[in-house]
Amino acid sequence: MAHLCSAYPFHADASFGDRGALLGTNVTGGLSGFYFDPFEFYNAGRLSNPNMIVMGSVGFGKSATVKAFVRRLRAVYGPDRYLAIIDPKGEYRALAADLGLATVKLYPGGADRVNPMDPGGGDADSSVIARQTLAAQLVCGVLGRNLSPLEDAVLGWAIEQRCRSNVAFTIRDLSSEILDPPDELVRLSRHTPLELARATAPVTFALDKLCSRTLRGMFDTATTVSVDWDNGPGVVLDLSAVYSNSDALPLVMVAATHWLAGALRGHPHRRSIQVVDEAWAAVKHGAAYFQSSLKLSRTYGVATVLVCHRPSDLTAQADDGTASAKIAAGLLSDIQTRVLLRQPPEQLAAAAEMFDLSERERAWLGQLVQGRAIWQIGARSAIVQTILTANERTLFDTDQAMVDPSERLA
Ligand SMILES: Nc1ncnc2c1ncn2[C@@H]1O[C@H](COP(=O)(O)OP(=O)(O)OP(=O)(O)O)[C@@H](O)[C@H]1O
Ligand SMILES: [Mg+2]
Repeated sequence: MAHLCSAYPFHADASFGDRGALLGTNVTGGLSGFYFDPFEFYNAGRLSNPNMIVMGSVGFGKSATVKAFVRRLRAVYGPDRYLAIIDPKGEYRALAADLGLATVKLYPGGADRVNPMDPGGGDADSSVIARQTLAAQLVCGVLGRNLSPLEDAVLGWAIEQRCRSNVAFTIRDLSSEILDPPDELVRLSRHTPLELARATAPVTFALDKLCSRTLRGMFDTATTVSVDWDNGPGVVLDLSAVYSNSDALPLVMVAATHWLAGALRGHPHRRSIQVVDEAWAAVKHGAAYFQSSLKLSRTYGVATVLVCHRPSDLTAQADDGTASAKIAAGLLSDIQTRVLLRQPPEQLAAAAEMFDLSERERAWLGQLVQGRAIWQIGARSAIVQTILTANERTLFDTDQAMVDPSERLA
């Protein structure tokens, strides 16, 4: 089969080369080996950003593909690929143990806590803006609506003041600052103290709710975990304790991703792969947040991998079709590598439109077997079968509860 390319030059694609980690076979490229690494492809000018999206139906191998990918990148590049993983289902434990990644398990009242108001790396202005965007996103999430201009301004102002003072602060500190605003803020707002307190009450309630309920004991104090960002192989943030809480999960994911991205920005000399598994839960509520974070990927050497189920995961947040199409298009313009696993028939039209699939690709997308995906890499695409080793099949297995051990393939 490897000779198909020369025997049928117009039927089989040229390969993508052999830079990167070997993932499996290029089915439409004469069954040649398929190698990929976003940084190699970026350096070779084949991509204009290193970000990736992995999309597909439940159980068709999104996580297994990502796990094989990061494990093999680590094998090929060693310390030059730092792995940072948001793990909402607690399914990366075996991989973390295998690769020696630090694991931080966040749960209400647990010992591990991270402070999303940590400054993180990068220049001071973008650190302030990132924290303002995050806080606004969290408060919007709790309130279930956009912030009024005054709410937004007061929240942003309070964060800026705290950042300028160069003293560490938490979400709880923000809440007290807004509850008891300094004279300068009252004057700037052109409201009386009472009017201002009334107008910003929803923000303090929301911040309070984050500290006392939703994010309690995970994100409301100073950071207690220490991760070796300089020499360690990577870190997994295990959020499985909140996975079944559909109200809390998006907020926890956005806060955790923000903290992780901030820390990665502080170590731009290392190339990092930041995986957000089950990203649909957070993207649906915080596309704007992800969009700004994806834009920073090239500056700080971070390739973000978002794992989603279906096209509407990128669009459901907006009310009308035009706005949602814009949000999805904005996100996708910063994600040049798209790994599309099988979609059910009702999603094919939306996927074909979103990813500009040909008729043939659209037909394939509905029939792909487990672990097989359409890879769009910049301007080119191929069908790739990820091949797992026997060891990896055991390490990555998410079907334990479904399969009788006696029926398992060797
Ligand atoms: N390429 C592959 N070869 C063999 N087995 C695979 C392959 N890809 C996935 N599997 C197996 O299929 C099962 C489901 O895969 P996985 O957990 O990656 O699916 P998923 O798409 O992430 O599902 P979910 O939407 O539930 O997160 C796993 O037990 C995994 O080992
Ligand atoms: Mg998965």
